[in-house]
Amino acid sequence: MSDRVYVFDTTLRDGEQSPGATMSLEEKISMAHQLEALGVDIIEAGFPIASQGDFEAVRAISRAVSDRVQVAGLCRAVPKDIDRAWEAVKDAGNPRIHTFLATSDIHMKYKLQRTPEQVLEMAEAAVSRAATYTSNVEFSAEDASRSDWDFLAKVFERVIDCGATTVNVPDTVGYVQPFEYHEMIKYLMDRIPNSHKAVFSVHCHNDLGLAVANTLAAIRAGARQVECTVSGIGERAGNAAVEEVVMALNTRKDIYDVTTNVDTTQIFPSCRRLSQIIGQPIPPYKAIVGPNAFAHESGVHQDGVLKNPMTYEIMTPESIGRTGTEMVIGKHSGSHAVKAKVRELGYELDEEQLGLVFEAVKGLADKKEKIYDEDVHAMIMEKVFRKRD
Ligand code: KIV
Ligand code: ZN
Repeated sequence: MSDRVYVFDTTLRDGEQSPGATMSLEEKISMAHQLEALGVDIIEAGFPIASQGDFEAVRAISRAVSDRVQVAGLCRAVPKDIDRAWEAVKDAGNPRIHTFLATSDIHMKYKLQRTPEQVLEMAEAAVSRAATYTSNVEFSAEDASRSDWDFLAKVFERVIDCGATTVNVPDTVGYVQPFEYHEMIKYLMDRIPNSHKAVFSVHCHNDLGLAVANTLAAIRAGARQVECTVSGIGERAGNAAVEEVVMALNTRKDIYDVTTNVDTTQIFPSCRRLSQIIGQPIPPYKAIVGPNAFAHESGVHQDGVLKNPMTYEIMTPESIGRTGTEMVIGKHSGSHAVKAKVRELGYELDEEQLGLVFEAVKGLADKKEKIYDEDVHAMIMEKVFRKRD
């Protein structure tokens, strides 16, 4: 029987730390409902001690979603943070406290100004305190990928004894390489005597463009929770994109033999919803969900796809909730064609907004023979989302 991989979505926490991705309370609740429809297992709703707004968002999401999805609140490994996180998530049907503490030499020495022994004690105290509130406790060793493996193993062993049910191995600065991460996860799981009592989790950043590759390598090594964001938004170059991880697992079942709870037909609607909320278009070349992801330009490819789509498509647009229709927008396009193109690009606009985009398309078509997806994108941004600039 294939193993279950738990999808931990951090769009509303790490994702929101992406420049320009701030969301209002209502927008966060709406995105949380979309994540539920997507079928993620855990929603990290925010960092409650960070601000009153974050606290309220985590509490509101905890109350809004069903108990089929767990709601996590992030906290540093200090008592006041842990208490605040619990206060925010306690009304959820299935709450989780997620506490973190850095374990790399550079973070311990310069950021925390603590010795490894002190860090070990802080980690134990934090998890023990969180465990007095709930049996669902996650511990993250920040900057794990640059930490000493034996020290990390010791920290994980102790926090599991104190009640951590998930231990996370973040590649905080996007530094690790896939083969190295694979080796590291295996080493930790083999080395830690009580490793079977916790789910091993991974959390990868994309500074070297390896977040998804590292996540997949870790799954091959035995990790069973993946921390991701919709469209890969997040700090700096972002996080592992949930749609890429899930579709890689689905498309290559022959090598991964794991399952998730994700309804893949909700992938595109989720990316579209996020794009609309944060006012940023899905980039044209974005894997899986970008406007170009299923567009075939070369004659040879078009011919092949017409004969059998699988010649050049390794998944169908329908499988991720895209219509798959291509439409040429030009001088003679009517409002229906523009409306369909807007939807295909990932936007749900009201009549007034559609009218603005339609007028802009017509205006541009008078000057330009061919209107590309990027043109329509630019017009949506200018006419509908300009308030966000
Ligand atoms: O990147 C990171 O290390 C984090 C932790 C808080 C999990 O976001
Ligand atoms: Zn992170």
